[in-house]
Amino acid sequence: MGRLTICRTDEVEEGEFATRVVVENTAYAVYRLGDRYYVSIDLCSHGPGSLGEGLIIGDEIECPFHQGRFHIPTGKPTLPPCTDPVQVWTVHLDGDEIWIDPDEPPSHR
Ligand code: FES
Repeated sequence: MGRLTICRTDEVEEGEFATRVVVENTAYAVYRLGDRYYVSIDLCSHGPGSLGEGLIIGDEIECPFHQGRFHIPTGKPTLPPCTDPVQVWTVHLDGDEIWIDPDEPPSHR
């Protein structure tokens, strides 16, 4: 099991904004929904949109590029033009540190 630190909880925007974080040359989007944190890949599956720069609407993230949406906990597309899921990872918390296992198999999700 790998361990990749994404950021600290106090670096994640509260409210309607996602947070974009670059770790080891990969951009991730981090979300806070209430007291829970979620991590997906930053790049939209539809094009060049950055989900970390998108708006959180309920439990969905709206891509700022064409306003398609994904379900944050699962990465499933919920509004066209998005049709393919985005990768998400199980979030692990260690104190205020948010980390993921970059090797987590997709079948786990
Ligand atoms: S690039 Fe995200 S909806 Fe098109």
